[in-house]
Amino acid sequence: MSLRLDKFLASSKIGTRKEVKKLIKAGVVRVNGRIVKDPSFDVKENDVIEVRGSKVEPPRKVYIILNKPKGFVSSTKDPRDPTVVDLIDHPYSEDLFPVGRLDKDAEGLIILTNDGEFAHKVISPKYAVEREYLVKVDRRVNERILRDLTSGVKLKDGHVAKAKEVKIVSEEGGEISLVLTEGKYHEVKRMLSAAGLKVLSLKRIRLGNLKLDENLSPGSWRELDEREVASILEGGSEEKDKNGT
Ligand code: URA
Repeated sequence: MSLRLDKFLASSKIGTRKEVKKLIKAGVVRVNGRIVKDPSFDVKENDVIEVRGSKVEPPRKVYIILNKPKGFVSSTKDPRDPTVVDLIDHPYSEDLFPVGRLDKDAEGLIILTNDGEFAHKVISPKYAVEREYLVKVDRRVNERILRDLTSGVKLKDGHVAKAKEVKIVSEEGGEISLVLTEGKYHEVKRMLSAAGLKVLSLKRIRLGNLKLDENLSPGSWRELDEREVASILEGGSEEKDKNGT
């Protein structure tokens, strides 16, 4: 790590860039015991940074699971609608962004993070991370429809989309579960429309090997631990990426 001192302090949530510059110029910031008054001073990996005698922890990567309620958009800012980030009251809120997207009228598991590299992997088709959805549709689903969805349906843009797995959850209730390995725009709705079905409700319940917690009510969130973060990519074909094929 090599980072400007003002950036290090702002990313560590000591204050805004402007506020931390003031602190530095006021002479209350020490690097390895020495007062540093230059905001552009280069901070290295093992440097000890203190503000008014208290050690500052380096910025960290944050991974949050949110049970997205309907009505929120999967972006950081929106001129009209509340966003998923608006639901997260966390010191790192300003740096968080959603990994992939769920439609405004969809609900369920969504990850927010400040780790761009991780987000890129989860979204990348190379990793083929599984996404499992519970979907209510407007009519009974029969075996032929299930077969069409797993063998591939042609979308309006000509792309052939395949589900990795489709199961009937409730025949009368018109509820199915669907596992996909890509996250294209409106993928589930477009696939089901191509199979002659209309989506009435859509909920994501799994990403990789990470399941939506039973006790995480809509709008609630929590931080993931390292093992849970790793379990998201374990549900994909990571080896493929490592081998560069
Ligand atoms: N597919 C959709 O159509 N919508 C979503 O929100 C996610 C997958």
